[in-house]
Amino acid sequence: MDRDDIPLNPTSSPTFSRILQQRMKRRRLVQGAALGSAALATGCASPAQTTASDPGFPELQQGLDENLHLSASHEAEVLLRWGDPLFADSPDFDPNNQTGASQAKQFGFNNDYTGFVPLPLGSNNSDRGLLVVNHEYTSPDLMHPGSPLEQQLTMEQAEVDMMAIGLSVVEIQRDGAGAWSVNRNSSLNRRITPQTAMQLTGPAAGSDRTKTPYSPDGVACWGTYGNCAGGVTPWGTILSGEENVQGYFAGDFSAADERQKENYQRFGIQADTPWAAWPRYFDRWDLSKNPNEPMHVGYIVEIDPYDPNSVPKKRTALGRFKHEGCNVTINSDGYVVAYSGDDQRFEYLYRFVSKNKYKPDDRQANMDLLEEGTLYAARFDESGVQWLPLVFGAGPLTEENGFRSQADISLDTRKAADLLGATPMDRPEDVEVNPVTGTVFVMLTKNDERVPGQEDTVNPRADNRGGHIIEMMPQNGDHTAQRFGWEMFILAGDPEQVATYYHPDTSENGWFACPDNCAFDAQGNLWIATDGADDFGIADGLWVAPVAGPNRGRPRHFLRTPRGAELCGPSFTPDFTSFFCAVQHPGDDGGSFDEPSTRWPDFHAGMPPRPAVLAIRHRDGRPVGS
Ligand code: FEO
Ligand code: CA
Ligand code: CA
Ligand code: CA
Repeated sequence: MDRDDIPLNPTSSPTFSRILQQRMKRRRLVQGAALGSAALATGCASPAQTTASDPGFPELQQGLDENLHLSASHEAEVLLRWGDPLFADSPDFDPNNQTGASQAKQFGFNNDYTGFVPLPLGSNNSDRGLLVVNHEYTSPDLMHPGSPLEQQLTMEQAEVDMMAIGLSVVEIQRDGAGAWSVNRNSSLNRRITPQTAMQLTGPAAGSDRTKTPYSPDGVACWGTYGNCAGGVTPWGTILSGEENVQGYFAGDFSAADERQKENYQRFGIQADTPWAAWPRYFDRWDLSKNPNEPMHVGYIVEIDPYDPNSVPKKRTALGRFKHEGCNVTINSDGYVVAYSGDDQRFEYLYRFVSKNKYKPDDRQANMDLLEEGTLYAARFDESGVQWLPLVFGAGPLTEENGFRSQADISLDTRKAADLLGATPMDRPEDVEVNPVTGTVFVMLTKNDERVPGQEDTVNPRADNRGGHIIEMMPQNGDHTAQRFGWEMFILAGDPEQVATYYHPDTSENGWFACPDNCAFDAQGNLWIATDGADDFGIADGLWVAPVAGPNRGRPRHFLRTPRGAELCGPSFTPDFTSFFCAVQHPGDDGGSFDEPSTRWPDFHAGMPPRPAVLAIRHRDGRPVGS
């Protein structure tokens, strides 16, 4: 989401040259694609050959209406909707009579990330597992009768609001026909909320800056919110990114430590304009009473979905910023490498390398691999990516600049990356390793604040409304290498409206805008979920693009959302025959609770539109997308 995407990076201008022109010229010769040509999406070149690994589904037509649409060879079922009961004793959903207590036992609002882990633990089962879903934020105007503004919420509505945020862990099973159902009796089902007991781990745990009246040791912490995307680790935990957390705080923090004040400024905490009603009713978010609380959010949260009593761990070693998500890979030498983007205009791309090695047969030993290691920020130049270590005492990261220990680096990550000269990007969202190619794909959703003169080689367009995707190539396949190569993969947007870069045979339905989340199928094709395509007059949805072969960079339209929604959280079962994704904030385009622009997915009078998770399958039972 980008409701508060105010650029705050003071170092973001000017950046460097327009080397891209050179770069794109080279690529144009190779691929025949044009930068800025309106003709390219209609395809003057002869149709490229398809290969066996290319997506084979009939392409969906673009559009924008109140319903969900899907490629004709596939079918979708609504698996989980806002308010669905998750436990045997959950009350039925009644949008006119929600309470915090009922919401705490039901599926939350604004589902974003989805991740499937098989049951039992350690198996590769695609018929039974746990689906973990993030609930990023709420839309009170679509949740409560009368569509109150967030600042008008009653205490009871604010409690509903709070309990609708966090995560859900839900056991699901698939029948012989491929249909999924929720097991409400599972002892593994869990709601995680802004009140769930958690712990800070890593360099910032126990710092004076993280001590609060609610956490005298600076280690204990409570809850998670703003959870956007995420990832599954090879040891079966879920990583969830705390992204837009700044709008939940209010109150005068002028008495706070100078470092906190500087930090809040950089993080965009504007204590007089919170978007949540929480600080009015709950002191924990009132900065005049609890000035250090923002130091407890902005992390990657690691959750063990297999143990409903486990205490989620916030991994401060991975930095504190507006984490979109986090995805890990095991490097060939056994070290864990995690990638994460800071989703704000002119913010950075990060990599973490663990201190210890992954042990395939020792889950317990892997559970704290993300507690210790080295965090890096990315600096791009024409020929590659330089990874800059964020280590206390190195270069400018010293006391002179306000850093007293590694804890300060973890807490003030953005400032540390500023000082090292990381490259300000066009809002990094998902960053994921393609398991087939071993290369890293980075979704850069958009940046309409980049002005002419601020373009650089990796963010080549001013007023970047369409977003783009880059591919990074670790040197010799080594994800811990200091230098990577990189290539532009797609410059997105409507080719009729903006300068783009797609495969020349891209169809009139194949262009998209504002890439956000991604996933890879068994062939390594890139599944792209979008957030913001309505800016170009089409619904958000899914597009699938080969990353190799003659159709590299040729997206094909697979699914589109009902109006007002973005599409999030693409994920597959291990056998790739089921696919999950989240339709977030349907109807969020000007409608209200009483008169919404769509009533998807129920289409019942009186029932507002509901964010929902879909399970999708091929009508022939084949891998999804084939
Ligand atoms: Fe919550 Fe980065 O979108
Ligand atoms: Ca987004
Ligand atoms: Ca997102
Ligand atoms: Ca993803």
